[in-house]
Amino acid sequence: MDENFYDCIDCGTENCPCYLALTGDCLVCSRLSGKDCCDCDWKGVCVYNEFIQGGKRVNNIRNEFEAQVKEKKKYEEGTEVLVLEVGRGFALKCSWPGSYVFLRCREDESFYSIPISVLKSDIRGGKIHLAVKELSAKSKRILTADTLVVRGVYRNGILGIKDIIGTRGRVDTARKIMIVTKGIGFAPAALLIAWIGGRTQSDIFIDKDKIDEKLIEEYLPECLNGKVSYIDLRREFEYKKTERVSEIYREGGHNTLVVLTSDYYLSEIGKVLKIDAKSNNYRLCCGEGICGACSYTDDFGRTFKMCKCSASEIPGIFDKF
Ligand code: FES
Repeated sequence: MDENFYDCIDCGTENCPCYLALTGDCLVCSRLSGKDCCDCDWKGVCVYNEFIQGGKRVNNIRNEFEAQVKEKKKYEEGTEVLVLEVGRGFALKCSWPGSYVFLRCREDESFYSIPISVLKSDIRGGKIHLAVKELSAKSKRILTADTLVVRGVYRNGILGIKDIIGTRGRVDTARKIMIVTKGIGFAPAALLIAWIGGRTQSDIFIDKDKIDEKLIEEYLPECLNGKVSYIDLRREFEYKKTERVSEIYREGGHNTLVVLTSDYYLSEIGKVLKIDAKSNNYRLCCGEGICGACSYTDDFGRTFKMCKCSASEIPGIFDKF
C-alpha cells in the first residue's frame, strides 16, 4: 500500500506550511512527519524547504477578525442569510468553491465557532453572503449578533473539489457536471456555479426540502450554463430507488457528479454512481488538522483529517460514512 498518497487542500497555498509542519505531522512532507528522507509525491513547491527558509514558522496564520453584519435576510425553514463586510481581499479568497469560514459572537468562547459555507462572494463590494440555518446553540448565537468574529478562509467544504478546480485553477471545459443538492447544500453549489462562470455545462437538481424557494431564486447564479430542475430525493429513493438519479445522469450525458446532500443520500447515490465531489459532512471544529474532530479511519487503520484531506485519494471515502 502506497503511504504517500495524501493530498492536503492547503498544500502549496499561502497557508502552507501550517501548524502540522510545526508539530511534525505534515500530511504531505515525509521530512515534516518524522522521516529522515524525502519521499513525498507532491509536485509543487517543496514544503520542507518553505518551512526551513521561512524560519520554521506557520505561513499566514488564519487570524480571527471582526466583521460587521451589514444585512440579515430572513427566509422560511429557519434560514437567514448574513451579509458580512470582510474586505475585497478576503471576499476574493472566499470565491473559490468549497470555501467556508468559522463564525462566533464577539463575547463567546472560541468553542462556539461554527463552520459555515460561503453562499456568495461579492468581491467588488468586499462582502460575503452566508446562509445559516438555526439548529442549535452555535447557530442560534451567531444569528443574534451585529458583529461577528470570522476565521478563515478554509477550502475543504467540498471533498474532491481539488480535482474539479484542476491544476490550472479553472474548470475543465470537457466536464459536463450534474450537481445534486438538498437543503442548505444549495449554498456551496451556488458558489461552485458562480466560480464555474458558465465555462462548462452544469445542470443542477435541487431538493427544496428544508430550504426556502425564494433563497434559491435569489442566489442561483445567472451565469449557470445548464438546466435547473427540482427533485424530491425522498420520494425518488422511496418509490423508484436510485434508478432515476442514474438515468438522469446518463441521459444528460454528464461525466462529473457533485452531490451536496446529507450522508444518507450521498451513500444511496454513491451505490449506483461514481461521485466526483461531495459535501464535507465531517464534524469540522478547528479546520487546521489539529483537533481530530473530523478524523476518518480507513480499513487499514490509517486516520485522515478530513478538514485537510482531499478525499479522492482515500480508498472507500466516497461510499463509507
Ligand atoms: S477539524 Fe480539527 S482536525 Fe479537522
